[in-house]
Amino acid sequence: MSDNMIVVDDKAGVVRLTISRPKALNALNSAVFTELASVLSDLETRHDLRAVLITGAGEKAFVAGADIAEMRDMTPEQARAFAGQALQTLKRLEVLPVPVVALVNGFCLGGGCEIALACDWAVASDNAIFGQPEVSLGIIPGFGATQRLPRRVGPAMALDLATTGRKIDAAEALRIGLVNRVMPRDALDAYAEELTTQLSGNGPVAVRSAKRAVHDGLDQDLDSALALETSLFALCFAGEEPGEGMGAFMAKRKPRF
Ligand code: CAA
Repeated sequence: MSDNMIVVDDKAGVVRLTISRPKALNALNSAVFTELASVLSDLETRHDLRAVLITGAGEKAFVAGADIAEMRDMTPEQARAFAGQALQTLKRLEVLPVPVVALVNGFCLGGGCEIALACDWAVASDNAIFGQPEVSLGIIPGFGATQRLPRRVGPAMALDLATTGRKIDAAEALRIGLVNRVMPRDALDAYAEELTTQLSGNGPVAVRSAKRAVHDGLDQDLDSALALETSLFALCFAGEEPGEGMGAFMAKRKPRF
């Protein structure tokens, strides 16, 4: 087992990142973010990248939050710098041009939930527990949850979670739209395989364009966003993928992208 806190496993352009500090339930300290930023610098240059999956090491946790031992004695200036480092790194994860998916395999609290929120979608094991318990520590979420959580689950549910600090199980996380799917813990690997197969069967430029249209469009008014979709749709036809994809359909064979 490597000593890295971000373990990288690359299979045909689908890169699995495992946050690995199992003795601290994968809590996020500044060293974890420094290492994640370095891994992202590599991924950002990869033209063969198809998807990024992110999970936690060990049996109990995805990520149990920011490292409380490191945060406890911070000054306001240090807290601002810590949050800034985390926010910048999670933004880079979020805007990777390919789907970024959280495989939530246990406790997903505080900063852990904020990682899941920076992903395009999340799937959870049926034993996963979610929450933004920061207020019980006398702080508020600092890695994006006050903004990304209401955008994902709506402001009322976000306020419920962020002000009570209550924990919710995987079934409730599914019901409120925090995760897309819930499955037994030992099915997460099979899901990762299934996702790899699905994405590898699709046009890589098309997949990247679909992500870009959704992300960039959400920041625009509807008419501008629909115009963006039209531009990206048209741009697909400048490449080789439509010829292969639609040609394969007409020839009743599988496309080879
Ligand atoms: N930071 C640092 N260490 C942590 C940690 C965290 N967030 N969460 C767990 N650990 C450590 C524990 O201190 C413990 O270490 P020791 O064995 O050395 O004592 C080890 O991980 C195992 O944890 P527990 O013994 O507590 O395990 P448990 O099964 O009894 O409880 C738990 C599990 C409910 C997740 C509990 O550990 C817990 O409540 N953790 C803190 C969760 C939390 O409050 N997260 C939010 C952090 S604040 C944040 O994230 C702010 C932000 O947005 C910037």
